[in-house]
Amino acid sequence: MTENQPQAPITSMDGWRDQWMAARQNPDAFWLARTRELIQWRTEPTQGLHGDFSTIKDGPLTWFADGKLNITESCLDRHAAATPDKTAILWEGDEPGDVQHISFAQLLEKVCRLADALGKLGIQKGDRVIIYMGMVPEAAVAMLACARIGAIHSVVFGGFSAEALRDRVRDCGAEVVITQNVGRRGGRNIPLKAVTDEALEGERGVKGVIVFKRTDDETPMVEGRDHWWHDVCANASPNTPATECDAEDALFILYTSGSTGKPKGVVHTCGGYITYATYTHKTVFGIQPDDVYACVADVGWITGHSYIVYGPLSNGVTTLMFESTPMYPDAGRYWDMVQRHKINVFYTAPTAIRAIAAHGDDFVTKYDRSTLRVLGTVGEPINPEAWQWYHDSPGEGRCAVVDTWWQTETGGICITPIAGATPTKPGSATLPMPGINPVLMQADGSGKVMWGPGEGHLCIEYPWPGQARTVWNDHPRFVATYFQTYPNYYFTGDGCKRDDDGYHWITGRVDDVLNVSGHRMGTAEFESALLIRDEVAEAAVVGYPHPIKGQGVYAYIVLQPGQEATDELPKLLQQEVRTNIGVVAKVDKFQFIPGLPKTRSGKVMRRILRKIAEGQPDAIGDTSTLADPSVVETIKAGYQG
Ligand code: PRX
Repeated sequence: MTENQPQAPITSMDGWRDQWMAARQNPDAFWLARTRELIQWRTEPTQGLHGDFSTIKDGPLTWFADGKLNITESCLDRHAAATPDKTAILWEGDEPGDVQHISFAQLLEKVCRLADALGKLGIQKGDRVIIYMGMVPEAAVAMLACARIGAIHSVVFGGFSAEALRDRVRDCGAEVVITQNVGRRGGRNIPLKAVTDEALEGERGVKGVIVFKRTDDETPMVEGRDHWWHDVCANASPNTPATECDAEDALFILYTSGSTGKPKGVVHTCGGYITYATYTHKTVFGIQPDDVYACVADVGWITGHSYIVYGPLSNGVTTLMFESTPMYPDAGRYWDMVQRHKINVFYTAPTAIRAIAAHGDDFVTKYDRSTLRVLGTVGEPINPEAWQWYHDSPGEGRCAVVDTWWQTETGGICITPIAGATPTKPGSATLPMPGINPVLMQADGSGKVMWGPGEGHLCIEYPWPGQARTVWNDHPRFVATYFQTYPNYYFTGDGCKRDDDGYHWITGRVDDVLNVSGHRMGTAEFESALLIRDEVAEAAVVGYPHPIKGQGVYAYIVLQPGQEATDELPKLLQQEVRTNIGVVAKVDKFQFIPGLPKTRSGKVMRRILRKIAEGQPDAIGDTSTLADPSVVETIKAGYQG
């Protein structure tokens, strides 16, 4: 493969092996060739990677550092010029059949108008803008409008609370918030503007709020601060020029949960991220120019960033945005959309697959799925039964199923089958993308790399363009979280098995991160919310296997002396969690216990709590290091099965 030759699609295992080897042998040449062929640069980069995992403590590594671009020219301008009338965003609203087609030319104009409006509110290159919206096309317009002028967006999922929103506004120092009066989901209103108002009370740093009018519901506006989207855009330029950015200028911040503390603002930069999102989207799904591509995630998560907005638009294909839920009005909604929109590639999460599978095949078979070619899954381990159902029922046994493993931090898909090339095994994410070198570490803390089949902690050995560069305002936290456990490796936080064929089977998080319905949340966030209530002395939260959600949330509560576990208390605790994190966060089971199992040095032995919550009390192992081993018997006896 010579440097500037466009890469042939991967259609066989030999093709995969050739590209994987090419990327391994000369990563700079591989990625420079990919970015030149896929991305519209103003100044093409001549440099590949600078820095590596051993130097990351001294500062972020860089890719394509001498390149200049504005990523909206890849996502919009080039397609608006070549295929102006082609649908860029195909929007399906909450009510079936409430549909909009927005062409590339129209999308570019909308983006330019909002970009100009942001500029008039004083937003400049490098400034931060929070986007707190539902799944309306305007959410994508808002992201791209920020990118157009080099502003850094941070999308906050609409299911997060005012507290969570305020934390993020403060952490990134946002000057403008873009929201909508209400969101619509499953026939109900989501009070996005009201939550924004609550979050911004007393926040002096925010100088403007732009409000998209989704419905005619009455919406109180704050004089001098709030502006209707339609007003500011009506008076704005439809031709706002794109601001030239460095490859390593930040494109967005996305907050994500870890083992400790508050969510971290993971930073992705322009050149490497757009290259990786574009390349992986095209390669994994085998995207064809006329595809109707549907990823039914939410733009509040990384999947929505990379595979609803940036990857598909950069590849110039029609991307669906879905406002509703897989269950509204019934469990056939996905396949109804597949039939009506003639969808070719469909990408969802195991939770949704399990939930709709439980409603039976009739909801699937009554719709025509003959256009489908590829079915993707992401966000959590998919159990082989759910995989098989997805393959056999919606996929009619003929579609490629791609189980894509990746993370907010990786920017794009890292371990996955390539549609039409990789032989699959139900439940396995299979093999790495070209440019990704996964390594398993022995889980015994020895820090030794494992060779051949086995189970260990999943790390990645070498940098790739799409990876997060830092944590906003806290590079030491970035280094400590990802590069200290296994020096010179990126540690994913996931466990993984590798079989005799070198296939990867992700087993789930090995740290204190929960994955509930594909939503990533920290046990520490739950615990600090629970501790806010005066009745609570100590709290420990763990996950347990849940048949639909993947993981459920189990909270152990130690009350203050003199407090009683009344019937009301779980509701009050639940409310506190909701207030502090959002409607996405729900404790499934509470158990009130006299004390936590602690070692003599005071460390909570979470392993014991996990095993009991998992319903495996006999597997808790050695308890001899506990200060008071008798506490374990009491906890076992009170298990909320
Ligand atoms: O545990 C893994 C799980 O989701 C985590 C990343 O969550 P988040 O940053 O929110 O990004 C989700 C969407 C990319 C991972 O550490 N995960 C993601 N995809 C898979 C998965 N677990 C198993 N199989 C997958 N395909």
